[in-house]
Amino acid sequence: MKFDGYIKFGEQAESYGEQYVKPDLNAVKYPANVFRLNAFINLLNQIKPAKVLDVGCGTADPLLAMRAQGHEVHGFDYAKEMVDVAKRNVKRAGYSEDIIHHNNMEDIQGIEKGAYDCMVALGAVYYARDFHKTISGMAELLPSGGNLIMSLRNDMFSLYSMNDYSVEFMYRKFYPHEKLSGDLRKRLDAFMEDHHKVEDVEKAFKTIDDRLIHTYNHNPLTVEEEILKPHGLKQKGLYFYHFHALPPVFEHSDTEEFRKLSAEFENNPADWRGLFMCSTFIVHAQKI
Ligand SMILES: C[S@@+](CC[C@H](N)C(=O)[O-])C[C@H]1O[C@@H](n2cnc3c(N)ncnc32)[C@H](O)[C@@H]1O
Repeated sequence: MKFDGYIKFGEQAESYGEQYVKPDLNAVKYPANVFRLNAFINLLNQIKPAKVLDVGCGTADPLLAMRAQGHEVHGFDYAKEMVDVAKRNVKRAGYSEDIIHHNNMEDIQGIEKGAYDCMVALGAVYYARDFHKTISGMAELLPSGGNLIMSLRNDMFSLYSMNDYSVEFMYRKFYPHEKLSGDLRKRLDAFMEDHHKVEDVEKAFKTIDDRLIHTYNHNPLTVEEEILKPHGLKQKGLYFYHFHALPPVFEHSDTEEFRKLSAEFENNPADWRGLFMCSTFIVHAQKI
């Protein structure tokens, strides 16, 4: 069974903020979310919105970092444990607990249209059970000209990862497998198996896929047509984070070198190579 994101994240509420307190390339997990946060803050500093809503705010560590840059940010989360930790954190930082509340991004209640001219969602919307309903509801609340900045999982990374995801991607997106004659189909299957051996490497850490949380992946090249235009949004920019300097299997065997080289790419979130080298990307959209 695949778990709903908020349940799984609620269980980690007490420890989830540690990644922001001591970002460390050699921690169990690569500090991708710190790079993500920096990219969001850079965008907010350019846009200068009046009032920001952080959707799926987690422990509120990112919200506090945005506030430290002078942005008026409120946040909500659906995991009760996350809301409790977030309230505790903002109170400790000297803010009212009321800047955090409980809500569901898939069916947002109690927020008036135009109350926020910017919505940010860091690592949140791809956990929705109904992705389009979620984006539609969020876009609905924005005023014309309002901004939506969200991170998404990059389907195209499969072409770079050189593993079973690559094979699956090629069959799903490229090969007309069902049209091939029986013999050619068998030879193609054997060819793919030969060229993409499953690596027998002991994993040094878990990824989101090991955690069995349901997520959506998106293609940065089609995101405007597929998920922005249908909801009255236009694309303003695409940015990349969580670069992989080498195929991801090497992160388990050569962690230090792999991460040092990968982190160097994070200095340029607009680098086109992120289309392939990054497992995640950021979309900056604007309500028409
Ligand atoms: C990967 S965490 C990211 C947290 C935070 N934005 C950050 O960057 O540190 C995803 C968050 O989305 C929340 N979430 C998942 N489903 C949600 C929903 N339906 N409504 C609101 N929040 C949700 C989870 O509870 C979790 O706190």
